[in-house]
Amino acid sequence: MSKAPIAIVGTGIAGLSAAQALHAAGQSVQLFDKSRDLGGRMSSKRSDAGHLDLGTQYFTARDRRFTEAVRQWQSHGWVSEWSPNIYQSRDGQLSPSADEQVRWVGIPRMSAIAAGLLGELPVKLSCRVTEAFRGEEYWTLVDAEGNNHGPYSQVVIAIPAPQASALLASAPKLAAVAASVAMEPTWSVALGFPTALETQLEACFVQDDALDWLARHRSKPGRDGSLDTWVLHASSAWSRQHLDLSRELVIEQLLGAFAELIDCVVPAPEFTLAHRWLYARPAQSHEWGALADAHLGLYACGDWCLSGRVEGAWLSGQEAARRLLEQL
Ligand code: FAD
Ligand code: NAI
Repeated sequence: MSKAPIAIVGTGIAGLSAAQALHAAGQSVQLFDKSRDLGGRMSSKRSDAGHLDLGTQYFTARDRRFTEAVRQWQSHGWVSEWSPNIYQSRDGQLSPSADEQVRWVGIPRMSAIAAGLLGELPVKLSCRVTEAFRGEEYWTLVDAEGNNHGPYSQVVIAIPAPQASALLASAPKLAAVAASVAMEPTWSVALGFPTALETQLEACFVQDDALDWLARHRSKPGRDGSLDTWVLHASSAWSRQHLDLSRELVIEQLLGAFAELIDCVVPAPEFTLAHRWLYARPAQSHEWGALADAHLGLYACGDWCLSGRVEGAWLSGQEAARRLLEQL
């Protein structure tokens, strides 16, 4: 067995899931992420209104293995249940929509899960990997600054499909599968109000033109901050149509949609922020689990290999690790 570590590109939930499984099996790993922070779409953004969850809002656990993992995260104090007052809005009609679904959030912010999963594992942040090539025996990664990293025994690519295809070039079949996956964008906006809005609503599934989802930040466990901050997600269709709109106009338009939807007076927000997720969700689910070229030692995982949810990403990371380990 080779002594060189396994490189994992991407510290979203898929990459971290694979890293944990490989580490638990006695393998050494080296993680990379282009971002300054861990977690990818499950990260939390530092802002003048505190840390905000602009991507993943909550997650559900339906698979037995994932449910067990989430129970462990709960015992470590990384996650907690979130039971908001749920509403729905259809054709402009707002109505309560309580249900029995258990929903989980990271505490005190979503990124706590990524931090917990990483633990002491080695990671290079702010390092965009642009190429992965294999010599006779080992892999080398090249970053955007032209630096080489390696040698690595195997490589796991755990990034959104449109970005993954370039890094899978050594295995053209895998690259072609990744290139075939369409991913939809999401505009995310945060609005902070100096006084609490007079509404019972804490989360809302929306089926109107622009919006898809609303959440009241302070209704989640462990969140604080002086403002009453709300996170709004635009629908995929609206986000696609307004992909290149300026942040100011995105905020203006989604604030307008929010004020129209919600059942109370909406004053001017004191704080606003817009973030564009270019690859927010796969346009459809797949059943690949993970992609593998065992001969080369190249693997790919991510939500796009299963369902576009945290659970799908975590399971995909487990599957990539399983397939890699069975080759050792
Ligand atoms: P990612 O989280 O995208 O991780 C990939 C990582 O790779 C990133 O950190 C990125 O910086 C890094 N990376 C990319 N390219 C490179 C490179 N070349 N070199 C180095 N690093 C690179 N799911 C739910 O279950 N519930 C929700 O409520 C929910 N809401 C969502 C809301 C939004 C707005 C978005 C965007 C997603 C939401 N999701 C939700 C989906 C969920 O966030 C994803 O399914 C999951 O987080 C994907 O994890 P991943 O590890 O596959 O990918
Ligand atoms: P879930 O079971 O809470 O929601 C699944 C879907 O069921 C919701 O999108 C909603 O349409 C409907 N729904 C659930 N409870 C409802 C209620 N009480 N009233 C009305 N409608 C209800 O969670 P699951 O299956 O884990 O889905 C994850 C969530 O993440 C979804 O809401 C999905 O839209 C969201 N997501 C958002 C992304 C984005 O880019 N904005 C990307 C990926 C996921």
